[in-house]
Amino acid sequence: FNVPKPQNEPVLNYGPNSPERVTLKAALEQGRSYVEDIPMYIGSNEVRTGKLVEVRPPHDHQHLLANFHEGDASHVHAAIDAALAAKADWENLAWEQRAAIFLKAADLLAGPYRATINAATMLGQSKNAYQAEIDAACEFIDFLRFNVHYMTEIYEQQPPISPKGIWNRVEQRPLEGFVFALTPFNFTAIAGNLPASAAMMGNVVVWKPAYTQVYAANVIMKVLIEAGLPAGVINLIYVDGPVAGDIIFSHPDFAGIHFTGSTGVFQNIWKTIGTNIHKFKTYPRIVGETGGKDFVLAHASANADVVSTALVRGAFEYQGQKCSAASRAYIPASLWPAVKANVQRDIASFKIGPVEDFSNFVNAVISELSFDKLAKYIDAAKNDEGVELVAGGGYDKSKGWFIEPTVLKVDDPHYVTMREELFGPVLTIYVYEDDKFDEILDIVDKTSIYALTGSIISQDRYAIAKATQQLRNAAGNFYINDKPTGAVVGQQPFGGARGSGTNDKAGSMINLLRWVSPRTIKETF
Ligand code: NAD
Ligand code: ALA
Repeated sequence: FNVPKPQNEPVLNYGPNSPERVTLKAALEQGRSYVEDIPMYIGSNEVRTGKLVEVRPPHDHQHLLANFHEGDASHVHAAIDAALAAKADWENLAWEQRAAIFLKAADLLAGPYRATINAATMLGQSKNAYQAEIDAACEFIDFLRFNVHYMTEIYEQQPPISPKGIWNRVEQRPLEGFVFALTPFNFTAIAGNLPASAAMMGNVVVWKPAYTQVYAANVIMKVLIEAGLPAGVINLIYVDGPVAGDIIFSHPDFAGIHFTGSTGVFQNIWKTIGTNIHKFKTYPRIVGETGGKDFVLAHASANADVVSTALVRGAFEYQGQKCSAASRAYIPASLWPAVKANVQRDIASFKIGPVEDFSNFVNAVISELSFDKLAKYIDAAKNDEGVELVAGGGYDKSKGWFIEPTVLKVDDPHYVTMREELFGPVLTIYVYEDDKFDEILDIVDKTSIYALTGSIISQDRYAIAKATQQLRNAAGNFYINDKPTGAVVGQQPFGGARGSGTNDKAGSMINLLRWVSPRTIKETF
């Protein structure tokens, strides 16, 4: 079978008066015009418990967008049972039949559902139109199409050598049991990809999204069902994380977790799985993409405009709520005056406000919890003598969870905001003496526990070579003369090591191979 060779989905630009802007505006208005009632999806049932959790746009917390039906322990059991009941039929379906469902889902997202999924991501997660387009539409579509392509390569791999009289072969079996997909709020594409990639390889899945992402998760589920996904293959439940974890991480049929979220949560999950290891029929696959404290390192040879663009785009797109966001930077003293002036100019030009006004570059952070945490870090920094407030520092929660893009310059390269993941629009900068590049490389490498993304900006090939070599373990995605965000599926496989994850590269064959368990068969004639 020849599956079509994937191409990256083109990014639409939503310029004023463009037809795509008109369609998207209509979808936003439609989304705001009623209160959606969102069920769980277990087996062939839409489950409504009557225990409602409100969904409000982070940029407009007075508006009720939807209610979803929260489940309890009984729904976790029901979802596992539904998954296991669907397993035999699903795993025995020829892989190209499974592939067709996910290719159709990609086409539905690229066409009739594009505005719906983008509008849901804008309203539910406070992403502006461009950020929603590169995530919920393009990246998700790319995940589906490229993964089907990698899946083809896995199933059509060259067989092992077979000497005369012997036929050796390798069968790629789905995992024995069910997979748990536990997904974050910040990317609709990741939320959809984690259950879809495991399911594509013949597995059945229980999926629990972040409560702050349920509004778009519901659209994903509808698209998968319309594309022909059989009942029970992916079961979408809204249950408190620890309640779901207690049941799933001690269930004998638990066969793997596909996780994206924070490092602390993942480490606790790993510990629980370890404690319960004797309870499972098979060693579970543990795949997790976790936090980041991503850096931009400028060399004295760098162009100041390239540096400041990498900083403001890397740090403030989607309010800094990307695992890949630039949140610590190292700037040589000779470049600092120009970089500082550029960054202050750019931030002053940013409009902050709701997503419905397409001229707003900065929207709200995800929740009050996140707002309060960020405000606390910012206040502490403002009161610290070793910190200069270069830009921003304000916040306002009267209408939505708005935090100004904030830049701090610190005297201590190990200051708390250089080390910890804040997950918001706060960039911390350390200015170093131009001739201390070698020392700064060591500081970049050793300051944080994370190793997700990072950039070197330089026009000096020796400096680029040195940084590439010495920072080889400091980032799973390393960028030269670019911002550290915006990995494209099929172009820059994404993931980090150290405290940032198991580095199983989302949207790659490496990742898909975690969802199969090969069986070698030798037949002697
Ligand atoms: P989170 O860790 O708070 O939540 C992730 C998921 O885990 C959610 O579904 C949540 O409900 C669930 N959860 C939380 N506590 C739990 C518990 N005790 N038991 C079981 N489940 C639990 O993460 P988030 O705030 O949704 O997302 C932001 C985080 O995700 C950041 O740390 C970011 O860096 C990371 N992230 C990483 C990548 C990557 O590729 N490395 C990509 C996106 C996001
Ligand atoms: N694909 C996202 C980025 O690289 C995670 O920013």
